[in-house]
Formats: sequence, C-alpha cells, structure tokens
Amino acid sequence: MSFDLALRGVNLPTGETGVDIGVKDGLIAEIGHQLGPAAQDIDAAGRLATTPFVDAHFHLDATLSLGMNGERNESGTLAEGIALWGRMAPGITAENYRERAMRYCDIAVSQGLLAIRTHVDVTDRELLAARTLAEVKREVVPYLDLQLVAFPQMGFFCREDMADSIREALAFGVDVVGGAPHLERTAELGRASITALCEIAAEAGAMVDMHCDENDDPQSRHIEALTYETQRFGLQGRVVGSHLTSMHSMDNAYAARLIRLMAEAEMQVVVNPAVNMHLQGRYDDYPKRRGLARVPELLAAGCRVAFAQDCVLDPWYPLGRADLLDITWLAAHACHLTDTTGLAASFDAVTRAPAELMGLDHFGLRPSASADLVVLAAADPLEAIRLRPARTHVIRRGVVIAETPAARSALSLPNRPSALNPAVDFKISGA
Ligand code: FE2
Repeated sequence: MSFDLALRGVNLPTGETGVDIGVKDGLIAEIGHQLGPAAQDIDAAGRLATTPFVDAHFHLDATLSLGMNGERNESGTLAEGIALWGRMAPGITAENYRERAMRYCDIAVSQGLLAIRTHVDVTDRELLAARTLAEVKREVVPYLDLQLVAFPQMGFFCREDMADSIREALAFGVDVVGGAPHLERTAELGRASITALCEIAAEAGAMVDMHCDENDDPQSRHIEALTYETQRFGLQGRVVGSHLTSMHSMDNAYAARLIRLMAEAEMQVVVNPAVNMHLQGRYDDYPKRRGLARVPELLAAGCRVAFAQDCVLDPWYPLGRADLLDITWLAAHACHLTDTTGLAASFDAVTRAPAELMGLDHFGLRPSASADLVVLAAADPLEAIRLRPARTHVIRRGVVIAETPAARSALSLPNRPSALNPAVDFKISGA
C-alpha cells in the first residue's frame, strides 16, 4: 500500500520503539516496522507519537479575559473569581466570546491539544455565551473537537426557568448537562439540583459533568448524591464529578466507602491540579491543604480519572498555557503519582482517559482510527512529563496542522559542547 503520510521510527506510549505509522485518507492505515512508501514522510526516529492531548474540563467563555474589566482576583479564592465573573459577564459581546475562544483553540492546537470539553455559563436567559460557543464548535471542528457543557455558574436555582434554558441549550448544540450543587444557596437546594439535572440528562440521553464539592469542607458531600442519582437514572459511565476537592479533607473511613460507591456507579472524575491547588486552602493557616480529589485511591478502585486545565488567564487563574503536560507534571507531584505506574497513569490522564470520558472513539493508536496524532521531542511518556517538550508535529485527520521545533540552546563555554538538547543531554550516564 502507498500511504499519504508516514511517521517513521516513532516510539509508542506502550513502550514499542522504532515503529512506522502509515496514514491513508485521514485514517491510520497500518502500524508496523519498515512500512512501504508514502507521499509524505516524517522522520521522527526515537520520538514519542501519541494520540492527542484532551482537556476534559475548561472554561472557554472566560479564558483570556484576565483583567479585561480592570479587575483581578486578588484573594485567589473561588468566591472572588465568581463575583468578578458575575460583574464582567453581562458586558461581554458575542464577538468578544468568539475572538477569545478561537484564539485559545489556536494555542491549544499548537500544544497538541485537539479536544476540549468546555463548561459554558448559562446564567443569562439569552444564552449568549452558549450560542456563540456552539458556533465556534462548528467552526473549529475540522481541527479540534469541542464539547460544550451547560453550566449554571450562579446556581441551577438562580432563576426559575433554568431547566428550560438547559433543554434549549441541548437543542442548539450544547452536549452535556452541567451543574454546581455546592454553589446553591443551601445544601438541600444543591441536592435538589442534582436530581433535576440528572433527570434532564436522562430525558435527553445526554452526559452529565458537574462541578462538585469545589471547596475544602469535608461535609460537602454532593458527590455522594450525584453517585446515587447516576445509578437511579441509569447514567452509569456517562457522569463526571469535576473538581471533588472536598474529598481531600474527608474522613478516611467515609472516603473509602464513597470511593467504593463511585466505582460501582462508574463515576468518572476530573481533577484540575493547577487551579485546585491555587484556589483551595485559601482559608487555611498552616498546614495548607492541597485540595485535590483522592486520585491514587480512585484509580485503584477502577474509576476513570482525567487531569484538566480548567482555566487560563481568567478571573480564577492568572497562569496557564494550554499545555496538558504542565498539568500532568503538577498532578504527578501533588497526587504522589511519581512511581512508574503512577507516571504512566498520569500520561493516560491527559490523553486516553479524557478521550474515553468524552466519548471520542475516533482517537486511538490502531488501524482505522482517525489519524489524529502528536509527535513530541521526547522518547517516552515519562520523558514527556519530565521535559514538557515541543510538540514537533500535530496531525489532524492525516494532515500536519502545527509544527514546533525542538528546543535547543546554544552554549558559549570553554571546552564544552556548543549546543544543548534537553531531550538528549539529560540522559542518565550509562543508560
Ligand atoms: Fe471549572
């Protein structure tokens, strides 16, 4: 067979080395050694080729808005971020939503990030952000899979007709039902919002992804109710608990029981290590809590866990650069996943796991999967996490859509090499 494109000599996340990937008509046609000719060859000898990075939790409506209205979140709390967004959002135009979202998608593509699940605030009755991002979703689909979550940022009960708005959003292109039970005015209302939202999702055949227990309160246990309703409505495997930061502070015995129930309900979990650690622990003296869900325990119980970015340059978070390797590097440290298995799971948590969670079946390193691939200036997943190197080639449907040269420093030192290549020169002596 003659291929349209072939990656030559790549390493795979499974540990296989020196492999060719042959692409034909936008699909992976063959994976093997010394494959036949191709119209275009990419010599990627010794470099890691992977399925794309996938961000399962983001806020595209708020991104790149840091300081836009002259204010910044000075306390670093979730509460100040929400208040700031509440003042900013009503003044944002459709064009402004669109311009920032499109610009972020450009940056994402350059980082090999080819799928994003974004929560979209549906507080306003006109649903301006959701309508605009539904258009953006259609516009970027040739190069990026965007999934939208109807997110009542100010609470499901902030207005009486929120259920109608969510149904309306699902009808014009929003994919997933969101929520934030811990932000309702009382715990009872939070509980009621979970039931109402799961009912809407079950009716519509939609997935659910709720911001849940995003605080340091060990008594914030909405994930328990979300788990229960997942089973009651038969939504197993279609529900995500995002953040779950209160799990960090829960009693161990309660957490162990909760995790068993979550695994039974096939609850999926998205952890946002950078933003969670930034926003949590803000009311603590010392020691300051990290505020992360119990990732090793959830993984051990068989729950699907993804690591996500959440925010970049917005009222909640002043940093970030659309790099899921930054996120997994941070998560590996903060969750004590720095053993061999933990690092492999960390790489999985920004590639395979979030793709499965979003139902992106077309991604995969197998014949007939979509030829959506990323080549990195690193030999394997561990080195990718360690160096967070350039994504030298980003490929969508068999076409190279972004290229970044591998980093190289020129040195001017007596009797030393004239150049330094981090992917090569950090190698352990004798390895
Ligand atoms: Fe979020």
